[in-house]
Amino acid sequence: MAATSSTWLITGASSGLGKSLALEALKAGHRVIGTSRNISKAKTACPEFSDKGGIWIEADPAQKDAQDQFAKCAQEYDVDVLVNNAGYAFIGGVEDTSETEVRDQMEVNFYGPLRTVRACLPVMRAKGSGHIVLISSGAGFMARPGRGTYSASKFAIEAIHESLSHEVRNLGVKVLIVEPGAFRTPFSTRILTPALYKNGFSEGYKGTAVEQMVSWFRRITSISEFANGDPDKAAQAIIQVITRGYDYLRMPLGTDCVVALESKIGELQKNLEATRSIATSTDVD
Ligand SMILES: NC(=O)c1ccc[n+]([C@@H]2O[C@H](COP(=O)([O-])OP(=O)(O)OC[C@H]3O[C@@H](n4cnc5c(N)ncnc54)[C@H](OP(=O)(O)O)[C@@H]3O)[C@@H](O)[C@H]2O)c1
Repeated sequence: MAATSSTWLITGASSGLGKSLALEALKAGHRVIGTSRNISKAKTACPEFSDKGGIWIEADPAQKDAQDQFAKCAQEYDVDVLVNNAGYAFIGGVEDTSETEVRDQMEVNFYGPLRTVRACLPVMRAKGSGHIVLISSGAGFMARPGRGTYSASKFAIEAIHESLSHEVRNLGVKVLIVEPGAFRTPFSTRILTPALYKNGFSEGYKGTAVEQMVSWFRRITSISEFANGDPDKAAQAIIQVITRGYDYLRMPLGTDCVVALESKIGELQKNLEATRSIATSTDVD
């Protein structure tokens, strides 16, 4: 269980879920360090944060040298709770997406959180306590058309956190993977699509699920068009869980995510029943 007042380090705290979490954590009496790639922009976007005692640090986990900067920060502030929140979505068909676009997505959604985790672990191990929270996504267990790259980044970083949860179980450090559905943040209005194609998809994918997904995201001007998740409620739920304790690894957020998870479990079960006899026929005699 987190101490009554603990120190939270939240990446990408200038907007959306990170901003809600930062403000709610301050309200709950915690010390909060929020990172942003641009502090002056962050201060304008979220003036209440500094007013309420929040500490801004200009840092970008996606930069290759970020681990050292985060390690210094973790030590200086004696971080108790790391929230890996910064991220964006790349939406595009597998064939239409360039390798650079995949690598850029991985730098932010995979290598970024990996660097901050490695930076904070020594401090948490030394005191025998700490929480590592990953803001993943429903896309972290389900890969819809046009979302292969984004899902790849979230599946991959979930794998690191799942493995880590076993590695640090007896060292006093806990891991929580949060899987939000669609929440009302600026997230969907900031998505990137394949740069090579004017409409975000190539001719061969016209009329397919790829065109549908890419065009739908490109049309979105306001997230409230489709998202039912309230970021402040998500933040309150996360803080409560960290404070009260938990004995699970994954926490879906939003009714849409619960429905998606049930559907995924059903698909996996159906797949297993269809292949069980094949699978069990391949053991040595
Ligand atoms: N909103 C949803 O529906 C939803 C659903 C599922 C999962 N999520 C996940 O929730 C997390 C937060 O997203 P949000 O909805 O709060 O979106 P948001 O409002 O766009 O906030 C994203 C934050 O991530 C940072 N960020 C964005 N692009 C970045 C880049 N290229 N490099 C480094 N940092 C970057 C930004 O920080 P600075 O600009 O201050 O550096 C920003 O504060 C993400 O990991 C996202 O995958 C969101």
